[in-house]
Amino acid sequence: MSQSYKILLLPGDGIGPEVVGAAREVLDAAAGRFGFEVEYEERLAGAGAIRSEGAPISDETLEAARGSDAVLLGAVGHPDYDGGSVRPEAGLLKLRSALEVFANLRPVASNPALTPYSPLKPEVVEGVDLLIVRELTGGMYFGEKEEAGESGDLASDSVVYTTEEIRRVARVAFEAARGRNGKLTSVDKANVVATSRLWRRVVNELAAEYPDVELEHVLVDAAAMYLVQNPKRFDVIVTENLFGDILSDEAAMLPGSMGMLPSASLGAPGKPGLYEPVHGSAPDIAGQGVANPYAAILSAALLLRHSLGEATAADAIEQAVHVSTENGILTRDLGGESGTEEATRAVLEHMSNTSNTQQGQKEQEEAR
Ligand code: NAD
Ligand code: IPM
Ligand code: MN
Repeated sequence: MSQSYKILLLPGDGIGPEVVGAAREVLDAAAGRFGFEVEYEERLAGAGAIRSEGAPISDETLEAARGSDAVLLGAVGHPDYDGGSVRPEAGLLKLRSALEVFANLRPVASNPALTPYSPLKPEVVEGVDLLIVRELTGGMYFGEKEEAGESGDLASDSVVYTTEEIRRVARVAFEAARGRNGKLTSVDKANVVATSRLWRRVVNELAAEYPDVELEHVLVDAAAMYLVQNPKRFDVIVTENLFGDILSDEAAMLPGSMGMLPSASLGAPGKPGLYEPVHGSAPDIAGQGVANPYAAILSAALLLRHSLGEATAADAIEQAVHVSTENGILTRDLGGESGTEEATRAVLEHMSNTSNTQQGQKEQEEAR
């Protein structure tokens, strides 16, 4: 009997449903090709959940997430709730926290077909291949807050990190560096911020276990500069929650658009991972059929690789996105004219080609 997996889909708001719909089609095609089954459950998160369920994520949805093999989320956020006391984004934070997905992997690779569309010079962008490991369940996002409300004169956010929170995410980053090009850049603001000084100490202590990994520390302001000046100097970057949020949007401009960047959020081994494109709900283009689905589709590939152990299917999807972009199937954000639908079709088509080849090779090997 073929393996069956339970995936919770949280399309969310804005372009979320459009890009998750695309990713689901690709997952279904991968399941058919590579001989596994996917059972979906779909639930509300974000503004839609506030409207229908009274909260940006319900306890039942959190329970469904915990009981799944993996969660695929589109994006949350809606202008109607800007400045309100209940925000759609709070649902996402609660989900990350409930799943304890402390390590957020955001791979950033340039793609020759897209180089002309990056706002940066081709020679800066060509050959970029880096991984941002963002701490996801601590720091300023989750520290105690004092709201100023409508008329208060003071607000505060506290940043707290424990050695264990730093060590566990740093370990993920050291391991990733070991499996890639052996270089780790830890980004902090240790010249000013106390939690950054602890961060640096813990990372240095852990480095003793990874003599094969070259470690450097870079201050976050300088890291922001290096990302556009010489991004090829980076292999793996590890950093705290807020710095990682900012640097990953900046890094999205290396391949040329937010619409190309997937992410995987992982916790303890064997626990469900959370997969989402790095981009938001893009209310400016929602409902127009023009959203770039590649980031969500690539997030589905990460889901297959990291949570389901279906690496061959993941490779086939990534390859199919690559070929689609090389063939000029580019959405508006990349300077092209294709819509969501056309880009999704291209991936499905190329996936059946690549997977046919791979399947064929496998069959030949088995026949030998
Ligand atoms: P955004 O990422 O939604 O959009 C920024 C710009 O990039 C917009 O011009 C948008 O049209 C474009 N863009 C983003 N994704 C695209 C795609 N797939 N295809 C084509 N163009 C794309 O960021 P924002 O405008 O700052 O935020 C909008 C809302 O999304 C806010 O409510 C924010 O909180 C939320 N948000 C959610 C997530 C998430 O759910 N993970 C991430 C970021 C922002
Ligand atoms: C992201 C988003 C979220 C974050 C928001 C929507 C809470 O910007 O996933 O990068 O800041 O983490
Ligand atoms: Mn962000």
